[in-house]
Amino acid sequence: MKTRLSAIAPAGLTLTLVVLILGGADELRCDEFTREDLVRWQQEYISVVNRGDVLFHGGLGNHNTVSCDQCHPNAANTHPETYPKFQQQLGKVVALGEMINWCIMNPLESGPLALDDPDLIALQAYILHERRGVGLAAGRH
Ligand code: HEC
Repeated sequence: MKTRLSAIAPAGLTLTLVVLILGGADELRCDEFTREDLVRWQQEYISVVNRGDVLFHGGLGNHNTVSCDQCHPNAANTHPETYPKFQQQLGKVVALGEMINWCIMNPLESGPLALDDPDLIALQAYILHERRGVGLAAGRH
């Protein structure tokens, strides 16, 4: 019994070490990126913000001619930093995208966008970009 245990213990220890080393290496790989990566990622981000800017200022192609900026000039009063929060119109705690859909369905009288629709992501990117630097305040009214 004793010999069997001592044979298992080093094997278990070796396995633990292998898992730790591999896990650590994986983490290192994830953190490695070049200056070119950063430049490219920033360009991709800004291109999505710019797309959101266009959509926000009348580019959504909704059925009526109402655009977001008529009620929220340059994302004013959109308070993205307060999401998720309880929204009376929807009767539950919602994410920013769900609240944007409420505006798309009501003032804009159009169909809601899927939460992973690139247009909805672009609108959120634009709104959040306009409010960058504002402290997070999830749930605040
Ligand atoms: C006719 C006016 C009108 C238009 C157009 C409009 N909204 Fe709104 N929006 C509102 C009202 C009213 C509310 C509700 C305010 C509240 O209860 O916080 C609101 C709330 C919001 C909120 C949440 C604000 C908060 O403080 O929680 C976001 C985000 C938002 N709108 C984004 C948009 C976007 C994006 C568009 C365009 C797709 C849009 N809105 C178009 C009137 C409008």
